[in-house]
Amino acid sequence: MSDILCMFYSRTGNTEETMKEIAAALEAELVEITDDVDRSGLRGFLRSGKEAMRRSTHPLEKFQTEKNLEDYRLVILGSPVWAGRCSSPIRALLKRRGLEMKRVAYVLTRASERHYEEIYDQMDQYTAQKHVLAVSLRPKSVGYAFWRDKFIQDVKRYLEQ
Ligand SMILES: Cc1cc2nc3c(=O)[nH]c(=O)nc-3n(C[C@H](O)[C@H](O)[C@H](O)COP(=O)(O)O)c2cc1C
Repeated sequence: MSDILCMFYSRTGNTEETMKEIAAALEAELVEITDDVDRSGLRGFLRSGKEAMRRSTHPLEKFQTEKNLEDYRLVILGSPVWAGRCSSPIRALLKRRGLEMKRVAYVLTRASERHYEEIYDQMDQYTAQKHVLAVSLRPKSVGYAFWRDKFIQDVKRYLEQ
C-alpha cells in the first residue's frame, strides 16, 4: 500500500498520461476523478471554460482510495489548466475533500508557454495547508521530461526528510 496518492482529472488524456508517469516513478496509488458532466466536443470545451472562470462545480462521480485521504503522506493532484484556473472537477474535489488532505502537491498541464503558477495559490484556498511542491508542464514540449523528472526527484527528496 503506497503512502502517496496521485489523483487527477483529464479531459483529453494529457494529464492522465503525465500522472501515470509520475505515479509509476513514485510507486504511488493512482486514482482518476470525474464529475457527472459531458465535456466532449466544442460544447464541452466551452462549458468547461465557463465553469472554470465562474469557479462553479458539479458533484463528482464516486471514487475509491485504498486509505482515507488524511492517511497519505502526500496527495498529488493533477489538473489541466482551464482559462487560467484549475479544472472544475479538481476544484470540486478540493471544495469537498481538500481539508482532509494533510500534505498536497500539484501538477498542472497546459497548452501555452505561460506557467500559471498563481493557480497553486488558488488551489491552496481549499486545503488544510499550503502545497509543498508543484510543477506546471506543457506536454510534448522540449523541457517536459526534464521538469517532470525534477518534480519526481523533489518529491522523493521531500519524503526522505
Ligand atoms: C476549457 C479549456 C480551457 C483551457 N485553457 C487553457 C489556458 O488558459 N491556458 C493553457 O495554457 N491551456 C489551456 N487549455 C489547454 C489544456 O490546459 C491543456 O491542453 C491540457 O494539457 C489538457 O489536459 P487534458 O488532456 O488532461 O484534459 C484549456 C483547455 C480547455 C479544455
